[in-house]
Amino acid sequence: AEKGQLAGKKILITAGPTYEKIDPVRFIGNYSSGKMGYALAEACAGRGAEVTLVSGPVSLQTHHPNIRRIDVENAAQMYEEAAKAYANADAGILCAAVADFTPETTSEVKIKREKDDLMLRLKPTRDIAAALGKQKKSSQILVGFALETNDEIQHAKDKLDRKNFDFIVLNSLNDKGAGFRVDTNKISIIDRQGLVAYPLKNKKEVAEDIIDKLAGLLI
Ligand code: C5P
Repeated sequence: AEKGQLAGKKILITAGPTYEKIDPVRFIGNYSSGKMGYALAEACAGRGAEVTLVSGPVSLQTHHPNIRRIDVENAAQMYEEAAKAYANADAGILCAAVADFTPETTSEVKIKREKDDLMLRLKPTRDIAAALGKQKKSSQILVGFALETNDEIQHAKDKLDRKNFDFIVLNSLNDKGAGFRVDTNKISIIDRQGLVAYPLKNKKEVAEDIIDKLAGLLI
């Protein structure tokens, strides 16, 4: 792939976890480090794209001047920013590990220890990917991720259709060196033509593979 092949393209990337607040000191989160999404943002910017990176709470930095970073905390905020950015984007890559549930109410004060069980009532969050898949125009591309623990390929294919992705990147928690908090990843790319499996690589190289696939669809 040549440098500059994404020149002038506007790309939305979501990355990292979301934190769903329980009270002023506690939240429901997940193990996403944001590394894959940040690697994608740097790689897209390196090829000339204008990147909007909507990021959940992570301890990573952005380096490239063509990355506009918007920090959010929870799924609702990520939805707002992602929907806004996707409206004028050529492509979206949804790499964030968005919470599927959020507390129905957030306590204004720290919840005290009690002897009794504590019941937390959760309500579903909005599915950002499904919403963007619905608003997607024929000129736009949407790429999703699937991190699965079982029946990986079938689940990923279902998501490709349900969320109207152009392709989906599958990583399995069953593969050593793939998934959360590590610097490497082992992916398969699934589209309506079929599946291509890639070997274990570091996340920078994986990002280049994903962007090669994306760039082919954008030209
Ligand atoms: O359904 P599941 O969460 O496994 O789908 C994963 C894909 O959907 C990822 O691309 C993820 O970023 C996206 N997603 C989202 N908003 C949600 C849940 C998932 O954008 N609320």
